[in-house]
This record gives sequence, C-alpha cells and structure tokens, in this order.
Amino acid sequence: MIPLRAHGTDEDGASLKILVVGNGGREHALLWKLRRDAPHAELFVTRANGGMCGLATSVPLGAGEFQSLAGWAEQNGIDLTVVGPEAPLAEGIVDHFDTHGLCAFGPTKAAAQIEASKAFAKALMQRHGIPTAAFGVFDQREGAEAYVRQMGGPLVVKASGLAAGKGVVVCDDTAQALTAVAQMMEHAAFGTAGAQVVIEEQMTGEELSVFALTDGENVLPMLPAQDHKRVGEGETGPNTGGMGAYAPVSLATPELMARVEAEILRPTVAAMAAEGHPFRGLLYAGLMLTPDGPRVVEFNARFGDPETQVVLPLLRSSLLAPMLAIARGDSIAGATLEWSPGAAATTVLASGGYPGDYPAGMPVHIPPEVERMEDVVLFHAGTARGEDGALVTSGGRVLAATALAPTVAQAAERSRAAAERIRFEGRHYRRDIGWREAARAGGHA
Ligand code: AMP
Ligand code: GLY
Repeated sequence: MIPLRAHGTDEDGASLKILVVGNGGREHALLWKLRRDAPHAELFVTRANGGMCGLATSVPLGAGEFQSLAGWAEQNGIDLTVVGPEAPLAEGIVDHFDTHGLCAFGPTKAAAQIEASKAFAKALMQRHGIPTAAFGVFDQREGAEAYVRQMGGPLVVKASGLAAGKGVVVCDDTAQALTAVAQMMEHAAFGTAGAQVVIEEQMTGEELSVFALTDGENVLPMLPAQDHKRVGEGETGPNTGGMGAYAPVSLATPELMARVEAEILRPTVAAMAAEGHPFRGLLYAGLMLTPDGPRVVEFNARFGDPETQVVLPLLRSSLLAPMLAIARGDSIAGATLEWSPGAAATTVLASGGYPGDYPAGMPVHIPPEVERMEDVVLFHAGTARGEDGALVTSGGRVLAATALAPTVAQAAERSRAAAERIRFEGRHYRRDIGWREAARAGGHA
C-alpha cells in the first residue's frame, strides 16, 4: 500500500471538515487524496462503501438527498463539500448548498448542463467554434430519420439526457442508425433521456480524457488519461462505466495539450461564462484525437471514473488547495500542479454479469499480501460491509486496483497482479489495461 503522507500545501487543513458526496471508486480516490493533502482534517462521506471506513465517517444520507445533506452540513459545520457524481450536480446540489451559505466544489445546475444535456453542449460548441463532430438535434422521430438518411454512412445516435454512460449507439450504417433512433424515440430505451436525440458524424481516432480544474475563468489541466470502456479485452463487448484506465498517455505531448487548452478548454470555460453560467469545478473533456486534431466527444461536469483512480495517485501537489479556492469563489490564476514521475494503471474488478444484471452480496476476499503490495492501492466502488463486518459486493464495478510504477506497462502488470489475487464469485476484469500504450512503446499488453 502507498503510505499516507502529507505533501506541502498552503493549508494543511488541520481544522477542516470535508464532506464527499457519492460513494464509488472515484469518491474513494478523492477521499484518499484529500486525506493525504490534509492528514488532520475530518472527512465525511455519504453512505461509505466497504473500503472507506478508515478514511471517513459515514453519513447515512444518499447523494441525491441534498435538502437533508445541506441541513446536515450546516449542523455539523462542514467547511467544504465535494460532489462526485453527475446526478446531484444536474439536479442543483451546488445551488442548494449555496443558498444555505455552504461552500461546495462543483458546477451549478445551469453549468452542469454541459454534461446533463448533450444538445446544450453541442449547441454551445457550435456557437463558439469549439471542435466537435457535425450533428443535428431532434425532438421528433421524422426529423431524426430524415437527418440519418441525408447524412448516410457511419453515425452515432445519442440520448441527449443523462443515461449513466449508456445512451450512445455507435452505428456503422444507415439501417443501424434508424433502429437506434426508433429505440430511443419510439420505445424509450433510455427513458426520458432519449426523448431528444443528438445524431453525430462518427469520428475516428484515439480517445483521451482530460480533466481541468477551473474557477470559471482560469483552467488548470490535469494529467491526461485513457480509459477502457468496453467490457471485453481488445475493446470488445458492450460499453461499461469503465473497466480500467492509465496515465500518462504518451500521445498527449506537451504540444497536443497546449492545443487542447487553447482550442478546447479555455474557449469552453470562456463560452460558459459569456453565456451567463460560469463553470466552476472540474471540467472533464472526453476527446477524440482525429486526423484533423483534437475534437470533443463529450463534456462531463465531474471527475471521471475510473480515470480519477489513476490521475490522483500521480498528483504530488495538493488537490485540496485549488478545490477550496474554486469552491470559495477565489481565483486559481497562477496556480500549478505538480506530478510524480512514472505511471499509474487501474484494473476494475466487476461483478458477474456486469454491465448487465449482476448479483450483490457476494463475499469478497482480499488476501493480506495484496494489502501489503508496494505501490498498490485498492479503491472500493461497489462494496459493502455485511452485519458481521465482512466485505461483500454491492455494485457492478466492485473494486479498482491501482498500481504505480515507472512505466504504464509495469504499472498495468502490477495492477493485474493485485486484481488476480482478489476473489469473489463471478468476478471478471480485463487483463489488457494500457495495451495501446504498450503497443506504442513497441511492447505487448
Ligand atoms: P459519450 O457518452 O458521448 O462519451 O459516448 C460514449 C462513447 O461512444 C465514446 O467514448 C466514444 O467511444 C463513442 N462516441 C461517442 N460519440 C462519438 C462520435 N461522434 N464518433 C465516434 N465515436 C463516438
Ligand atoms: N470513465 C468515463 C466517465 O467517467 O464518464
């Protein structure tokens, strides 16, 4: 395990009380980093999962109960609330905390539209010349079908609303696109999220996840990562929330990142401010590195999962300091982030059946030698403690085994070695995390 160690921060956060909203792998990684930044702070988390107990006090309220959460935060003198998932952001948790005079890290409801409405995000990009795929937005099936026929060829059909990463169908031809439109608009395959659809030109290239901390004006890009969205090795099978990730990505050269900052991150933050809903928090740009340069696939209004589980362990400087500044409405102009040399990789262990239906309550066995592995940290996602305190599964993505090493290939190997030793009935994971990077380095995954 990586020892807990304080890094030099302006605030050691000794007397701070911090609440993290959400209880997945991303939130475990946030808590882990906040604990390192502020060893003496009091940390709280909504409905702690099975791995958070030693790190934070569990608050028996769900991430969606923000009326009660604001009341609890007021009563308990919480100094900073960090919101992990997109749903409470889209429902206005930060606005609500704001009216109670509570300091929260994350965008307002209006700003969170950049993720919650793909139609909003696409129109914003179009108005401000931010590079993205050509598209149309439709409320009626007839219009959508006409657009599909007019465009022809490979397209992508997306439910406009939040669909937990599932409402996207990549279509190779017109027939597939027409079926996807019918499923979303006629058969409500993604519920109300698909009442409006976005139809896009299909882009080609590698994907890159770029997080940027922003105060609504300045941006502080973080180390880019790549995730593995398909359930199967070699990018096969259905899409998932993410089966693994790694950082850094050698494709993301300083030149490319300068372009991403100048052509995408800064213009987007400026556009949001110019249109009256400044984005303060963590802007996640999902990019495609096309032959014509980086283009936006989607924006998210929060940290990515499982990319956070590789990006934060590599962040040597404080995350708390910029988060506090942003949540307090202060400027981060001139702030910098410091990164550890080397690489991180994480392997997600999933329940049998995931991303489809899966059972819960399966006993999880983590051998002590895994806990002792050097430069390995286990982030819990879908785990819970049974009545006897024993660890059981409680979700589709159960654990993320993150490892640090000098190279991506070595980190992936170490992460895989940890994953292999962890047992629960039906567990599955990908053994090829970071294969693209290994291929680039001329090795093998
Ligand atoms: P999204 O939820 O918008 O990130 O889409 C999920 C996945 O679908 C992305 O990670 C891409 O792999 C793929 N995708 C989405 N939009 C496009 C597009 N315009 N061209 C090619 N692939 C896309
Ligand atoms: N890893 C993709 C996401 O968090 O949306």
